[in-house]
Amino acid sequence: MKILVVGGGGREHAIIKSLKKSPRATEIYAAPGNGGIAADAHCTGIGAKDLDAIVDFAKKQAIDFAVVAPDDPLVLGCVDLLEGEGIPCFGPNKAAAILEGSKVFSKNLMRKYNIPTAAYETFDDLAAALDYLKTAPIPTVVKADGLALGKGVTIAETREEAEAAVRACMEDKVFGDSGSHVVIEEFLTGPEVSVLSFTDGKVLVPMVSSMDHKRIGDGDTGPNTGGMGTVAPNPYYTEAMAQRCMEEIFLPTMAAMNAEGRPFKGCLYFGLMLTPQGPKVIEYNCRFGDPETQVVLPLLESDLLTVMEATAKGTLGETEVKFRNQHACCVVLASQGYPKKYETGFPITIPADLDAQVYVAGAKLEDGVLKTSGGRVLGVTALGDSLQAAIDKAYAQAAQVTFDNAYCRKDIGARALQAET
Ligand code: AMP
Ligand code: GLY
Repeated sequence: MKILVVGGGGREHAIIKSLKKSPRATEIYAAPGNGGIAADAHCTGIGAKDLDAIVDFAKKQAIDFAVVAPDDPLVLGCVDLLEGEGIPCFGPNKAAAILEGSKVFSKNLMRKYNIPTAAYETFDDLAAALDYLKTAPIPTVVKADGLALGKGVTIAETREEAEAAVRACMEDKVFGDSGSHVVIEEFLTGPEVSVLSFTDGKVLVPMVSSMDHKRIGDGDTGPNTGGMGTVAPNPYYTEAMAQRCMEEIFLPTMAAMNAEGRPFKGCLYFGLMLTPQGPKVIEYNCRFGDPETQVVLPLLESDLLTVMEATAKGTLGETEVKFRNQHACCVVLASQGYPKKYETGFPITIPADLDAQVYVAGAKLEDGVLKTSGGRVLGVTALGDSLQAAIDKAYAQAAQVTFDNAYCRKDIGARALQAET
């Protein structure tokens, strides 16, 4: 089978490495891919948002199955276009991807169908938003409506900060049209859990839970990043909690999307906060998480291609989705300075006998040499029979992957270990 994976980061590298294990995956193409992915797939260089070029390529190459991984092409309707040409796809269509594409949509959906989430108000008028902030409980959370590269969320500790965030969105348009509507919501507390799931709109199968580490610094300090590391499973997410989330959040979300005439098929990602009042939805994503995928898929025992095809066809209920009873840890190596200014172009050395998976996010090939080209450069994932073993191994192996100005957090998994004791 000829498979096309749209995207070019660490998540896509993990998806491609997983798909490659399938005996039926004879050829894999990536759009665009990256210098590291080139070791596992044909990189087309076609941009993930260049939908016309993607569809054109898929037709010309007679692609049998496409996986659209990033949010942008999903929200733009990449799946609709590919399916329109008769190419089966893993991923939601445009109507369903709005679950991530619009926070106003997703918040209103949760309100309508009684799905637990932070209390909120939505605004499309600056004066009304500012007026509301005069009496809103502080801290408060301000979110731009649309996709904002993960930067559209402000946790405001003071009224002034909240006001500045609203003005930045609605007046200064720092997120473009994404910010013309804002959500202002209740500040929640508790451990965060990411649960990715496969759903074909009829059944929903949660994958193993995970924990992201979004801040740049040890001890969860400093600015937010795209994710500095992950562990799976997430020890805060007990069996009882999983059952509760299934009943109160996952199945009601699937049913709500069906009731709205927007059946969701693909990977539905639940960003949850386990608050003292119970689990609540922080955000939905219409795609695999990054770097959650880098710990979740290595634990998948079943054939990913088979599961993805079943999700696309609507036969997920008849397909086995099994995870290994192990632990995984992914440590992200970034360029020193990220998420602010950083230098690139440094050669990367990866020992051939490394006992871990390397998922490349920001690197390019120059005359056959792999060099850094982004903020988050790569992730090193190791498995273990315990969380501690997975963490120790991930760090030991990551230490053998070298490039100038490399930076990583030293405490990936530390919070999860606390939960275990
Ligand atoms: P997001 O970009 O939606 O993933 O949000 C970024 C981060 O902001 C989340 O991972 C949470 O840590 C935090 N966050 C978002 N919404 C809330 C909320 N209502 N209460 C507390 N923290 C939040
Ligand atoms: N790791 C968070 C996300 O993928 O949105």
